[in-house]
Amino acid sequence: MSEAETLSREDQQYIWHPYTQMKLHPLAIPLVRGSGTLLYDPSGKAYIDAISSWWVNLHGHSHPHIAREIFKQASTLEHGIFAGFTHPQAIRLASRLLAILPPNQEKIFYTDDGSTAVEVALKMALQFWQLRGQPRRKVLALEHAYHGDTFGAMSLSARSLFTAAFSDYLFGVDFIPLPRNGIWEIPADLSPYGALILEPLVQGSGGMLMYEADLLEQLLIRCREASVLVIADEVMTGFGRTGRLFAMDHVAEKPDLICLSKGLTGGTMALGVTSCTASIYDAFLSSDRSRTLFHGHSYTANPIACAAANASLDLLLTGDCGRAIDRIGSRHGEFAEKIQGHPHFSNIRRKGTILAFDVVTPWPDDYSNPLRDQLYEFFIRRGILIRPLGNTLYLMPPYCITDGELNRVYQAIGELGEDLGKDSWALAGSIRP
Ligand SMILES: Cc1ncc(COP(=O)(O)O)c(C=O)c1O
Repeated sequence: MSEAETLSREDQQYIWHPYTQMKLHPLAIPLVRGSGTLLYDPSGKAYIDAISSWWVNLHGHSHPHIAREIFKQASTLEHGIFAGFTHPQAIRLASRLLAILPPNQEKIFYTDDGSTAVEVALKMALQFWQLRGQPRRKVLALEHAYHGDTFGAMSLSARSLFTAAFSDYLFGVDFIPLPRNGIWEIPADLSPYGALILEPLVQGSGGMLMYEADLLEQLLIRCREASVLVIADEVMTGFGRTGRLFAMDHVAEKPDLICLSKGLTGGTMALGVTSCTASIYDAFLSSDRSRTLFHGHSYTANPIACAAANASLDLLLTGDCGRAIDRIGSRHGEFAEKIQGHPHFSNIRRKGTILAFDVVTPWPDDYSNPLRDQLYEFFIRRGILIRPLGNTLYLMPPYCITDGELNRVYQAIGELGEDLGKDSWALAGSIRP
């Protein structure tokens, strides 16, 4: 048995993987090394990580600068309780984040990941209204939203295959449909609503659905006029993915709370952040302890994770990284034009470094689309990691991806376009549009 097979079998013996029906997909591909955009299995086979490993990686795998800073921090102070104590990496990271976040953001609260960053934002918003003695108990989210897998985050997310087993336990949220013909259908009376949460410009897990900045602006203005707190969930869109540092940089109106994770550490360590305005922070200040934000995690502001985030920011804030983001955006633009009008591809869309399109199938364009596994395998066989969302294919590469690697990915998509006409794809005999 090869080393890869041995590892896959041992994995199967001991491990239950996320989002995986273990009966259908019991064997995982072992990864033993990463460098730049490439992930390697034990035989040396390389995979181009075209999705930044669940949208986390910014500068490439095992980046030497981040690795060095992690090592330095691990050998200096690996962890310390973050209540009653603090440390230089957390302070430096908070001040650097506040310098690049929208100017109305004043405080940083540390958490563990995207879901907990969302939980904290929601708790801050709901408790804010309680502390103000104003009964704004209702919450708004967008159709097709995804904000994480903890119960609060699930409640804020679209009801779907992912949440079905727990639907009786999720609290009620009102969902605003995505704009049709440039118009939002927003409830006429927003006064009962305490908060709106949204993924600005790109809804990731919902299918890389995109809406324009002017529509986002309209929604933010309506919320501001009605004093509804806006939570921008930039867990996926943050740190350059949409072509600017944050998706909210595409609009003038600013949110009250922002959630960050994923690219925060350049894709190396789990860390989450919720930032908020002074007015939210100030509402909790009191000599009455019941007005405390009672939330925290054992690994809150872990120094190694904060060191990784500081190291990632060192790289992100260079001109080279900005140019790489622009280069990927324009390469995607050229490729999008090339496949425009392709009979097997539809709804080609692009925002910054994210390119997405749907494969035309006779089934609904959603996560349950039966072509999904075949599409995944098609790219894996070619040494490319693309994880389709149903029949939606998307690219969201690390910023270090080379033109050669991008060409290989585009070429494989071109081959898919030709291949889809063949009988091997006639999954139900009717793949052709
Ligand atoms: C917009 C958004 N919010 C929150 C999350 C949850 O983040 P995590 O998986 O780190 O809990 C995700 C994850 O994909 C996300 O895309």
